[in-house]
Amino acid sequence: MIDINKAIEALDWNKEPKGLYEPIAYTLASGGKRIRPTLALIAAQSVMNGGLINGDAIEQTMPAALALEVFHNFTLLHDDVMDKAAMRRGRETVHVKWNENTAILSGDQMLIEAYKLLSNVPADKLPQVLKWFNEMATGICEGQQMDMDFEHMSRVSIADYMTMIEKKTSVLLAYAMKIGGYIAGGTPEQQEALYQFGLHIGLAFQIQDDILDVYGDPKTFGKAIGGDICANKKTFLLLTALETADADTKAELLQWLIATDRNEEKIAGVTELYNRLEVREAGESVMEEHTSLALAQLDKLPQNEATETLRRLAEQLATRKK
Ligand code: IPE
Ligand code: IPE
Ligand code: MG
Ligand code: MG
Ligand code: MG
Repeated sequence: MIDINKAIEALDWNKEPKGLYEPIAYTLASGGKRIRPTLALIAAQSVMNGGLINGDAIEQTMPAALALEVFHNFTLLHDDVMDKAAMRRGRETVHVKWNENTAILSGDQMLIEAYKLLSNVPADKLPQVLKWFNEMATGICEGQQMDMDFEHMSRVSIADYMTMIEKKTSVLLAYAMKIGGYIAGGTPEQQEALYQFGLHIGLAFQIQDDILDVYGDPKTFGKAIGGDICANKKTFLLLTALETADADTKAELLQWLIATDRNEEKIAGVTELYNRLEVREAGESVMEEHTSLALAQLDKLPQNEATETLRRLAEQLATRKK
């Protein structure tokens, strides 16, 4: 297995001015699951006959894999400002440890660094990869804007939510898969199957993120619990609660939504309503549907070690605790 961690560690941030580069080093050293570059590299292996590790294909996919991870980390710096989140990966977020301006500018530089890494994709593949990378990046910005708009909207449907999470989260996983498959020489049909696999595990991934934001263990999850509740984020849990509650329970929930100054109480109150309405179970059942849809895509790919790894990954992500 190619070591994405080593490749990330090898990136050099020992540059001036320190105020710009230290937060980048801090962020990339804090780890995370590195699921996006991992998916790109496994996708590359999956389209090769017999799933043999073809050194060339891996080497050629690595620049895009690194670009995807640096890009993802950039989005987190800005997302934590937008979400007023104080903790990530068990550490203070950049805007708390430094300040908001630092999170903005070091984040901007990470975006640029992502494109520098991407420029190392083999020249014949670069135009197509760049086009997809840009589509992915725009999708995330659109999804993030919808996410923020929804905070202040009272009527958001589950369908609107699914569109929002497809953009803010799924497209990155989907394009990671597709780009890996394309660079390794997969057929258009295989690339599409990889894209759809990423899209569906991405939807399940974000629903699980919503669940962990309420039910996770902060030590394992690495983020503060209840942030989504405090910000009135239109998560799968909140929207399902609003949709399924009877009139009295809904009135109770709406009361909590206007409480902006009683965070601890609000988290406890809303969680209690979620428990009563069993919205977590509803989320888990939608996650299962999308995991199945993702797994079905694997039938369209060569059956090898890499597709077996993808199968396991899809199942593990659905029950992840971090
Ligand atoms: C966090 O992504 C942002 C979401 C899309 C939920 P991850 O859960 O992949 O974060 P890290 O990189 O592992 O910390
Ligand atoms: C993730 O949404 C989307 C992006 C970071 C682009 P969240 O806001 O739910 O992610 P976390 O929970 O802060 O990681
Ligand atoms: Mg967010
Ligand atoms: Mg956030
Ligand atoms: Mg979240």
